[in-house]
Amino acid sequence: MALVPYDSIALWGMQKLHKSSSAYTFANRTIQIKQNWNQLGVAAVVWDAAVVLCTFLEMRGIDLQGSLVIELGAGTGLLGIVATLLGAHVTITDRKAALPLLEANVQANLPAELQPRAVVKELTWGQDLANFSPGGYDFILGADIIYLEETFMDLLQTLDHLCSDQTVILLSCRLRYERDQNFLEMLRGRFSVREVFYDASNDVHIFKAQQKVQYGDL
Ligand SMILES: C[S@@+](CC[C@H](N)C(=O)[O-])C[C@H]1O[C@@H](n2cnc3c(N)ncnc32)[C@H](O)[C@@H]1O
Repeated sequence: MALVPYDSIALWGMQKLHKSSSAYTFANRTIQIKQNWNQLGVAAVVWDAAVVLCTFLEMRGIDLQGSLVIELGAGTGLLGIVATLLGAHVTITDRKAALPLLEANVQANLPAELQPRAVVKELTWGQDLANFSPGGYDFILGADIIYLEETFMDLLQTLDHLCSDQTVILLSCRLRYERDQNFLEMLRGRFSVREVFYDASNDVHIFKAQQKVQYGDL
């Protein structure tokens, strides 16, 4: 009888998370991301959802040139770095504890002339939102940020605050639990939501959300 004591894909995933750095190629550059799972946990490793959304932005030719982008729950910063390399002005945010590693990765991977286009800033969902321009962004990006039920209302409030009727929200995620689906239902209550991509090999979905058209405004 064949014994399969572990799921080899899951094990490979865990090994990736425990590496002290990982390398990617986007926008014709090698990006070297420092990781620190042991000290900082989920915020300090690159999740597949981030890599899939970076690939989507680049391969689909999403036009970020000169656009104002904010990334929520940026973790190590890969997605924000790639958005900057693709031409955007990016506010790259996460909770306070994640910021030193995030800042180090952004500095190490952006050439000096692009550094002014990437600003790392604390944003804990639902808190101090007045520090961020209401409706002031063309794109809101988030990779693997749908996973903590207790943050769902705060995350929605944050999206509401940052979004105008022109803003495009792109969220990439693996839907691991029923609660993740529940968040999508909550999102659908406020925004028009459409799945725009599914990467079967990584089991990562990308959803696009925009403010619902208010028929009274037409
Ligand atoms: C699974 S990690 C994803 C990190 C990164 N986006 C990626 O895909 O590699 C989730 C991220 O959400 C952040 N996060 C969790 N709760 C948060 C909150 N209440 N406010 C802001 N960020 C939060 C974590 O610090 C972490 O960086």
